[in-house]
Amino acid sequence: MRKPVLKAVFPVAGLGTRFLPATKAIPKEMLPLVDKPLLQHAVDEARAAGIEEFVFVTGGGKRAIEDHFDADAELNRFLELKHNTEGLDAVRQTEIAPGKLFYTRQQQPLGLGHAVWCARAVVGSDPFAIILPDDYVLSQTPCLKQMVEAYQEVGGNIVAVENVPREHTNRYGILKIGSDDGRLVTVEGLVEKPAPAEAPSTLSIIGRYILQPEVMDHLSRHERGTGNEIQLTDAMARLVGQQPFHGLHFEGTRFDCGGKVGFLEATIAHALTRPDMADNVRRVLKKYSS
Ligand code: UTP
Repeated sequence: MRKPVLKAVFPVAGLGTRFLPATKAIPKEMLPLVDKPLLQHAVDEARAAGIEEFVFVTGGGKRAIEDHFDADAELNRFLELKHNTEGLDAVRQTEIAPGKLFYTRQQQPLGLGHAVWCARAVVGSDPFAIILPDDYVLSQTPCLKQMVEAYQEVGGNIVAVENVPREHTNRYGILKIGSDDGRLVTVEGLVEKPAPAEAPSTLSIIGRYILQPEVMDHLSRHERGTGNEIQLTDAMARLVGQQPFHGLHFEGTRFDCGGKVGFLEATIAHALTRPDMADNVRRVLKKYSS
């Protein structure tokens, strides 16, 4: 029987230099889309997909993350006293059950592959998900849930994919594809940031993965790839041909919150889904669109 995906790794040890000075004292993953930090959106998505254990790979200057996901008895008491049920609900949603949240440190930002490898002790011999909180996905069904459903059908390794303009292939991990039925793609190879002329396709990997634990064996070799970083894409490429490997054309829109304009667009798109503010936001947007 196929092992269920119950663990998720959140690599959040990057320096977030594109958002300086905002990220000097506040981790990039704590920047909010309206009123909820990016990392909390990612945790909520994982919960909706059935994830039970959460592994944060952090680095220096990330203490705000620990405080955010901790229980704050004093704040809870204050909100109770004020009968602020809305605030209390919002705060309770940030809490992760005792023993279900794990922190590990990546002492140096040596690359995404290295960050994932830092979670190996908690992942153990189980399949696991990875969510990069910088990639925010707005969809009917949460993106990771769509992937878990696909995993129940085909097993192995699954990455969420979308088409990008050919001139942008040098920004992403790109698939070499076998068959494509419009939903699932069979993967024949993966290349990190290929030049447009050399890219085997224009299907790029977004920050959502379901991987088998054997990827850790390949990561443990610490081989450097593009940009002299230890690349997750290179370790995943080693699994191709050894285990099933699929790309999933997910339903939804992905926003790159690692950059300023993408972050702003995600903020607007998220706000427009919120019944408590959509009309007002639309009014404001109209004001600035003329
Ligand atoms: P990015 O390269 O987009 O994030 O990595 P960054 O380095 O924080 O941002 P900039 O470019 O300096 O503005 C994508 C994801 O991988 C994590 C980051 O935290 C982010 O969630 N990451 C990246 C690590 O955890 N460790 C690394 O060594 C590299």
